[in-house]
Amino acid sequence: IMSERTLAIIKPDAVGQHLVGAIIQCYEKAELIPIGMKLMRLTKAQAEGFYYVHKHRPFYDSLCSFMSSGPIVVLALAGVNAIQRHRDLMGATDPAKAAEGTIRKAYGTDIEHNAVHGSDSPESAQFELGYFFSALEWPQR
Ligand code: CMP
Repeated sequence: IMSERTLAIIKPDAVGQHLVGAIIQCYEKAELIPIGMKLMRLTKAQAEGFYYVHKHRPFYDSLCSFMSSGPIVVLALAGVNAIQRHRDLMGATDPAKAAEGTIRKAYGTDIEHNAVHGSDSPESAQFELGYFFSALEWPQR
């Protein structure tokens, strides 16, 4: 896929540890270019809407409480095969299982406090980019 867009979130644990700059540097070094970015704090309801696919999972309530517990940074990243390459760069969901050199290995704490989120498919990227970025503010780069 020539150029693709994906959504990244730097989660409250990473923002709270002042890792925003380090994580954005990982994206840029990997040629995942930020084309949209904002710092925000979600309400719990907004977190629930974002993670609605996990609604029936046992970790849903805790996940949504955590994701609304402090500021996050949301980014639209663009690049060749961006969705898969971003997932590879993040590493496994559980930082304890993530490979050396991945963002979650370097900066994650546990499966909930795992530093970053990334879209897992073209369908979820479309939903997730639209959840945070509107057509009017969509960056031209
Ligand atoms: P994320 O990529 O943001 O997508 C859903 C999140 O749920 C995931 O990262 C984890 O942080 C969180 N989560 C918490 N517990 C679990 C679990 N047991 N399995 C999968 N994801 C979990």
